[in-house]
Amino acid sequence: MDTQVVIIGSGPAGLLLSRLLHLNGIANVVLEHRSQDYVLGRIRAGVLEMGAVDLLHEAKVSERMHIEGLIHEGIEISFEGRRHRIDFADLTGGKSVMIYGQTELTRDLMDALAEDGVPPRYEAEVVAIRDIDGPRPTITYRQNGEEHDITGAFVAGCDGFHGVSRASVADKVETFERVYPFGWLGVLSETPPVSDELIYANHARGFALCSMRSKQVSRTYVQCPLTNNVEDWPDDRFWDELRKRLDREAAEAMVTGPSIEKSIAPLRSFVAEPMRFGRLFLAGDAAHIVPPTGAKGLNLAASDIRFLFRALLEHFVEGSDAGLNAYSQNCLSRIWKAERFSWWMTTLLHLFPDDGPFGRKLQLAELDYLTQSRAASTALAENYVGLPFD
Ligand code: APR
Ligand code: PHB
Repeated sequence: MDTQVVIIGSGPAGLLLSRLLHLNGIANVVLEHRSQDYVLGRIRAGVLEMGAVDLLHEAKVSERMHIEGLIHEGIEISFEGRRHRIDFADLTGGKSVMIYGQTELTRDLMDALAEDGVPPRYEAEVVAIRDIDGPRPTITYRQNGEEHDITGAFVAGCDGFHGVSRASVADKVETFERVYPFGWLGVLSETPPVSDELIYANHARGFALCSMRSKQVSRTYVQCPLTNNVEDWPDDRFWDELRKRLDREAAEAMVTGPSIEKSIAPLRSFVAEPMRFGRLFLAGDAAHIVPPTGAKGLNLAASDIRFLFRALLEHFVEGSDAGLNAYSQNCLSRIWKAERFSWWMTTLLHLFPDDGPFGRKLQLAELDYLTQSRAASTALAENYVGLPFD
């Protein structure tokens, strides 16, 4: 079989690219290792920058998001028993973010592709990528125990951090990495959020985050040792720990309930350079990882896809390869700024076991400065709502 673009992976990056290409008449096939239910069962972040919202609008999948999503014009930073609001609207000239779960967005994209008769091929594991330096790369995938080949003009490696795309060019990639000495224990619960906006809490016991998926569903996190398992954290222990890390008013307002999902995730910063190898283009988590503090992962995947989609359109419609040639550089310039911001938010808000009392005093001084200085608050707000997509 032959197509124009072979897309590996049906996370948000792969699905969004497929949809945008399809709407513009560019044939493509998405190959996904897992089942559709498995992909929809993954709970991930839920904060979208307006650049991502605009792209979803362009992909004609924003209807439900505009009805069910929540617009947030600020966040709260909590430390030393008090909360301080960072007012995005005031500091950035009216900008905001959209709260809408990645799971919902994934479902919207899957539904749109299925409705158009071009759904991803699920349970199709890519096992080899060949001839990326020739005119027509070949992708081999395994489905129902049989191997199949598919050729295309381009390959989009949207197969996440553990995928086959980056691994296939391992000898040509330079990687940059930082691993953090703690994890996030996350709980999804059918309980109203503690506050109307997200609370990021720095506490001597460790970081905590009160986020949400809707006005009825909370997503909350506490920093925990990497050696912990979810079995170490029965619901009661989780809620007690979260309560201890919040200010008194938030602790009292907190409504607890049984967890619907509970998981521990490690924190990592990672970038692979370059992002283009002949006719293979890496996008999203396949090329970079940010720690979740600041919610940049999904937004970076969206901005990579915007660059890649525009570049492919230019190639197929105008016959120009300028966008394809600039892809890696365009993406990486934006990625490194988001890497810096996510690393900084992580450093500012977490308890680092080896930092000691001096490190803790510096953190508190920085938090104090951040919440008192308009210039410092503006720098946070500007990055949180998102730097330009192009
Ligand atoms: N063949 C086919 N599919 C594969 C293969 C393979 N060999 N290896 C991995 N995949 C699939 C995975 O099963 C997964 O569904 O690729 C998909 C990658 O999706 P994501 O991990 O969601 O990555 P991405 O689309 O880049 O999303 C980035 O979503 O994952 C979050 O934290 C991430 O928010 C960020 C955003
Ligand atoms: C989430 O809602 O899951 C979330 C929100 C903000 C973050 C990270 C995760 O910074």
